Amino acid sequence: MDHDNTSLQNHPAGLASPRCASTTRQAYPCSDDRYPASIGSAIAREPAASFRAVYEELTSRDTPRLQAQRRALALLRDALDAVAGTTDDLPADPQGLDDWMAASAKKATRAYQDYLAQRRAGGPRRFFASRAHALYFLQAVAPTKLVDGSWLFGCLRHARDPRMAGLAQTYLEELGNGDETKNHVLLYRQLLQSHGLNEGAHLADDHFEQGAVQLALGHTTEQMLPEVIGFNLGYEQLPLHLLITAYELNELGLDPYYFTLHVTVDNADSGHACKAVDAVALNASRFPDAGRYWERVRRGYRLNDLGLGTTSIISGFDIGTEVLRIFTAKAVAGAGAHSDYCRIEGRTVNQWLGDPALIGEFQQALVRKGWIVPESDPGQSRFWRPLVGDRAEMFGVFSDYELQVIFDWIRGPQAAADGHRYDAPWPAPRPTRTPTFRAAQRLQEARKARAGDSDTGGSDADGQALLAPGAHWTPQGLEATRSFVAGIRGAQA
Ligand SMILES: [Fe+2]
Repeated sequence: MDHDNTSLQNHPAGLASPRCASTTRQAYPCSDDRYPASIGSAIAREPAASFRAVYEELTSRDTPRLQAQRRALALLRDALDAVAGTTDDLPADPQGLDDWMAASAKKATRAYQDYLAQRRAGGPRRFFASRAHALYFLQAVAPTKLVDGSWLFGCLRHARDPRMAGLAQTYLEELGNGDETKNHVLLYRQLLQSHGLNEGAHLADDHFEQGAVQLALGHTTEQMLPEVIGFNLGYEQLPLHLLITAYELNELGLDPYYFTLHVTVDNADSGHACKAVDAVALNASRFPDAGRYWERVRRGYRLNDLGLGTTSIISGFDIGTEVLRIFTAKAVAGAGAHSDYCRIEGRTVNQWLGDPALIGEFQQALVRKGWIVPESDPGQSRFWRPLVGDRAEMFGVFSDYELQVIFDWIRGPQAAADGHRYDAPWPAPRPTRTPTFRAAQRLQEARKARAGDSDTGGSDADGQALLAPGAHWTPQGLEATRSFVAGIRGAQA
């Protein structure tokens, strides 16, 4: 591929620059020092219905590229406006970035050591009060995790530009270089699947905001390069919450690999964090106004703060509310499916389930009538027994996650703190701790291969489309990634 290293205006052969295409020449001025607001004002406003709508549009392979780009720019204009007046912890001058990165990493690891000391001294888990709480978290952050790395997708077009090679390499490493056991999104999909979690169909719109911002950056590399670089700078630093999350998931017997993987790849020495800092300096000379460039990088950095963060999601968990949500969702299918033989406080189960407004009252009636015995062994609750076991009448109605929530809710916060699995032998023969995930793993002969669909499919006319956030984790996407990586390595040899 013939590639000029002087400007992002030059694209690899066969991949026309979208902003320089004739239809968009007026809308996207081909100057390196563009300001996002002026780009945004040149685009007809066509507000998306929701963050989720943008998210779905930008992950769909059916969305025309220009439409996706227009949508992305409109979203980013609003997002950048939202963070314009906020503050950040970046140094005043980009020269200070190396020291800033070292200090941030040190601060996180010191705080983690303090956390470990507290735990060793008998302190409780800081994030997850129960196994259900941890699973709720994994579910709630799914929309963001399922587009992991997406903000760098557009950097692939410039993979042979030395100034962009580090960012493109970071993206390819997010994709595991096409290795299905290392593709971050695929790992997260498997984590969700293994616990009866889904892609987040039931989640409120604000859960999709951060993912939509990330996808939008990945579609606007040529227009938003400083913001992409700034966002990446923030996302690739090692945060304390990642360390604690991994520790507590493992403690609860949940696979922490997705999180521990990020502790290693984001390291400040030679990992993604280091490449993120290098990208700031490597691309600075494209922008004649250094102050303006740094201001744009900083604004991009602050986009990390949009949407729901780890801490707010964790503190927003209320097990009673989650049980109510689960019951309400099931009531749609359950109304009419029960016999009228059984009445609870004068109403048949079908009558209770037939009116969504009654579900909370139904939940309380089950407690009042002794069908659910709070803060006890769930086996004593008449309601619990039909839900579990091969011959249970309602086996399969609730997912693993939903059963865990109901199980922990019945047991109450004190008992549920032990992290006991709902489907492990119960009651426990003696007070036990849930084996950590790693301990459980050591007991197994070998970890099952993380095998996905073995169909590798055919090739795609547009190889890079298969490396897009909505496709790279599929068998075809993984194969296309491996071919792309081999091409890059071949060119370097
Ligand atoms: Fe990742």
